[in-house]
Amino acid sequence: MTKCIAFHSYKGGTGKSTISSNLSASLAKKGLTAVLLDVDVYAPSLQDYFQWQPKKSINDYLFENANIDEVIHDLTPVLNKFESGDGEQSESKGKLLVAFSSTSKDEIYKLDGAVRQEGSKIQLLRKFLMLREEIVSKYNADFIIIDTSPGIRYWSINSLAIADTILLSLKLDGIDLKGTRLLAKEIYESLTKLGTKSYLLLNRAAGYCLPPNLAGETSASNQEIYENTVGNQSTVVSKLSADVGMDTILSIPCYCDIQFDSNEFLTALKFPNHPFAGKINALIEKLEKI
Ligand SMILES: Nc1ncnc2c1ncn2[C@@H]1O[C@H](COP(=O)(O)OP(=O)(O)OP(=O)(O)O)[C@@H](O)[C@H]1O
Ligand SMILES: [Mg+2]
Repeated sequence: MTKCIAFHSYKGGTGKSTISSNLSASLAKKGLTAVLLDVDVYAPSLQDYFQWQPKKSINDYLFENANIDEVIHDLTPVLNKFESGDGEQSESKGKLLVAFSSTSKDEIYKLDGAVRQEGSKIQLLRKFLMLREEIVSKYNADFIIIDTSPGIRYWSINSLAIADTILLSLKLDGIDLKGTRLLAKEIYESLTKLGTKSYLLLNRAAGYCLPPNLAGETSASNQEIYENTVGNQSTVVSKLSADVGMDTILSIPCYCDIQFDSNEFLTALKFPNHPFAGKINALIEKLEKI
């Protein structure tokens, strides 16, 4: 049975695109069929990430200018460029299929305008539901992974509505916590009542970078600051989890090498021994059990 997972967040930059891309690619590398949908229709980023110029986009599908086969792109060959951990070139047994949103300003305006009119809004919503159904029936997908826009936007909410599981990613700072509480109460509560599962996904949490004393600066006060920050984070998270009634599926540290890499691309495949790859595998194990 196909599992549909949507990545969402209150604020931008919480790692939705990075994690959804790495997750989809890793699923395919493991022999599964993963269909990744870029439903961040207002600011799509996956074309850039995969360096792919699709002829047809999800926008075309929604407006009936393209059929499903034209918008689903087989990016499996991209995976085969990455060597396996033992240095051997390994053919992927699975499939990575990706549907992109249009990056054209006119297309983005057109979609935004259409959802402001009641008639076309309903038609587009029906088409969106059909997109999920066609992927399930035609591609025999094990996973549909949806990358959404942050915040409360029309297509993000629709994406959450068609998902079986929502992963609400967050970085740990005050504003994000407030927004996350708001999303959990206003949106997720009603979806959860209908059977959707939702989890917090902590990303870019403290704890990976060497503490200042290990990095050569032996200062007791620095160490104290570090321990306070890391200690506080877990207290804040357990309070938030209890407050919004959502379990934390995983906590992924902030890896400076990922953050500052100007060409960051599928780290989990490029460096299978990187702890980030381990985290993606841990996420897969958890999602397979849900
Ligand atoms: N665990 C991590 N450690 C370090 N850097 C990370 C980590 N996860 C993501 N990043 C970096 O954070 C930045 C934002 O990530 P990303 O674009 O995936 O976020 P997003 O939630 O999709 O943002 P938006 O809401 O704007 O679409 C990127 O530069 C990415 O490389
Ligand atoms: Mg993104």
